[in-house]
Amino acid sequence: GRLDDTGSINLDEVRIDEHDFTMIDKIIVIGCGTASYAGLVAQYAIEHWVRIPVEVELAHEFRYRDPILTPRTLVVAISQSGETMDTLMALRHAREQGSKVLAICNTQGASIPREADAVLYTHAGPEVAVASTKAFVAQITATYVLGLYLAQLKGTVFRDEIRQTLDSLKAMPAKIQWVLDTQPDRVQRAAEQLQDAQSFLFLGRHVGYPVALEGALKLKEIAYTFTEGFAAGELKHGPIALVDEGEPVVFIVPPARGRNTLHAKAISGIEEVKARGAYIIAVAEENDKDVERYADMIFWRPECPTLMSPLVDIVPLQLFAMDMARQKGYDVDKPRNLAKSVTVE
Ligand code: M6R
Repeated sequence: GRLDDTGSINLDEVRIDEHDFTMIDKIIVIGCGTASYAGLVAQYAIEHWVRIPVEVELAHEFRYRDPILTPRTLVVAISQSGETMDTLMALRHAREQGSKVLAICNTQGASIPREADAVLYTHAGPEVAVASTKAFVAQITATYVLGLYLAQLKGTVFRDEIRQTLDSLKAMPAKIQWVLDTQPDRVQRAAEQLQDAQSFLFLGRHVGYPVALEGALKLKEIAYTFTEGFAAGELKHGPIALVDEGEPVVFIVPPARGRNTLHAKAISGIEEVKARGAYIIAVAEENDKDVERYADMIFWRPECPTLMSPLVDIVPLQLFAMDMARQKGYDVDKPRNLAKSVTVE
């Protein structure tokens, strides 16, 4: 609905004029929990397409560090509920400092979109379960549409390339469906084997890093398993000390077709933990022979461009958290101690 007849992106819910958009020289994305991880994915894509700095900040930290905000800074507030108090307070701070705020929100008419200068609704439908799932995928998609729109306005990407990227984006629902149709048995088997594990490590590089953080968050939230997500490059700077015989380690492996160095480094990280006896779950592209050699379990992703991979890669990890929680007899929709929307600071 955001593409016009000529294939150009048109954000008609945005009340910031094109001139102001063109002048933007920095983006700060704010959010909490899952929304902040969607922001981290967006950072890679938007910097790549728009060639301006993108910072991502937890909303509750934002105003206390006195961030540098100018009228040329665009603050993007991501919130499924639109009522998260930390994000709302950060939004108010940004506007007081003269920056424009664009909200990416799933809930029509909530406080955050009401107070923002512009809003891009994710239209994902009501998200009932406490653990955010479809909102994450929809938030990433919305930030990509925003990034491509800015690239179109600023002329930082050729129009035909923008169209190709939008075509890749449009192909993603079918790829997610493929995962839902073909991978649940593997995911279930992994959950059965690992239900008694005391802890998990989730590792990723580039856009796989925020996916690792989000996958880890799902497992903490609904299966109550102590889980940490790390950037895979950090492994040798500390976390590898945690790896012992049988420790489950989940790796998000980028496609070898992308930046091959990233793939090679992911494989070398897998080798390192495998040598210490870890149980490896990999999320990897179909037919990745290197991964087949080392992983104990693989959740396959169909071929897709690197920047699109988070949209598929999170799905088996969401299923994995659900299966782990069910194995343990927990209510996957209403985990203990958590509220769907955190309306206090
Ligand atoms: O409604 P919001 O997107 O602002 O909520 C932000 C976080 O509270 C939320 O994503 C939380 O981390 C979820 N429980 C994650 O599953």
